[in-house]
Amino acid sequence: MTIIVTGGAGFIGSNFIFHMLEAHPGYRIVCIDKLTYAGNLSTLARVMCDTNFRFVRADICDRKAIYKLFEEEHPNIVVNFAAESHVDRSIENPEVFLQTNILGTQVLMDACRKYGIDRYHQVSTDEVYGDLPLDRPDLMFTEETPIHTSSPYSASKAAADLLVLAYHRTFGLPITISRCSNNYGPYHFPEKLIPLMIANALNDKKLPVYGEGLNVRDWLYVADHCKAIDLIIHKGKVGEIYNIGGHNEMRNIDIVKLICKNLDKPESLITYVTDRKGHDMRYAIDPTKIHDELGWLPETKFADGIKLTIDWYLDNRDWWETIISGEYRNYYERMYGELQ
Ligand code: NAD
Ligand code: TYD
Repeated sequence: MTIIVTGGAGFIGSNFIFHMLEAHPGYRIVCIDKLTYAGNLSTLARVMCDTNFRFVRADICDRKAIYKLFEEEHPNIVVNFAAESHVDRSIENPEVFLQTNILGTQVLMDACRKYGIDRYHQVSTDEVYGDLPLDRPDLMFTEETPIHTSSPYSASKAAADLLVLAYHRTFGLPITISRCSNNYGPYHFPEKLIPLMIANALNDKKLPVYGEGLNVRDWLYVADHCKAIDLIIHKGKVGEIYNIGGHNEMRNIDIVKLICKNLDKPESLITYVTDRKGHDMRYAIDPTKIHDELGWLPETKFADGIKLTIDWYLDNRDWWETIISGEYRNYYERMYGELQ
């Protein structure tokens, strides 16, 4: 069994590679990653010498490189994590989101059609459903909820989902799609809420909360997402969409306060900053389908997962300090000005 994992030098893709090499010792895992600002080869250091693992630096939009790789590897399954993934960057510069997230997906699926594949899995997001109001806690996203996107990021992910469904219906490509809520855990790039707050708090820097911090996200520990994808690619029904979520809705401000408490840092570090444009209010996933059909349930409680995550950032300072001293520094200054 050979699986191509795209975007494997990023947050969720790397965690997925670690999970698959451990859970399926006989599988060959081939990672394709362009190594954008968000991709970090040091993340994969511990598997680089594994004989069941191969890393290839390539852009998923590069048709020639992707076809060559399919000719060499004859993959059985492709799992596509590669994406531009940060909403704020999509507001700054949408174009690369359309290129990678939509056109890159097309190139991968064209390769699957040309060379044959048992399964193409698209890693999507709950953000394709838009947002929910705060005063309707009874509402949740199901797989039938209409697509209704807010940001260039979510629009590009939704466009890719539609293209994946079109390749299934038109060409019979054996696809599955998963739409997951917000992940957290090790190797999360420190521009996203949880790792940014941990890194800033550890450096006694201000903690920039957008608006009033009342926006709600449904947080899932990354290992639980990886296990769900493993189940879907082996047991999920071709042509189906599966929602993945933690039943763990939290307001941003409560998360930031929890991080302060865990790190013994004062809440006075919290600074309210200008809200994100078009900021989605609330995401909430109904994961009934994946539970009923595949038996998946989240295993990590948030109270445990956040401790594991904080400990990981304490134990792996080199990993994130190298990142924030590099290109990310320029982005941080553009986003948050002189906020220290
Ligand atoms: P990430 O930004 O940490 O990693 C993305 C990876 O893709 C990086 O290693 C980057 O180098 C690589 N990449 C980017 N453009 C590429 C290209 N053109 N060719 C090859 N590689 C390229 O993202 P993440 O948080 O790990 O998200 C992975 C996937 O999961 C994305 O598709 C995202 O939409 C989806 N998702 C993320 C979350 C979340 O909370 N992070 C939730 C639901 C779904
Ligand atoms: P983020 O981690 O960017 O994920 P997403 O926008 O995909 O849900 O942001 C999570 C929430 O945290 C979102 O409501 C925006 C908010 N946020 C802040 O308040 N401050 C920050 O510095 C960042 C990066 C996010």
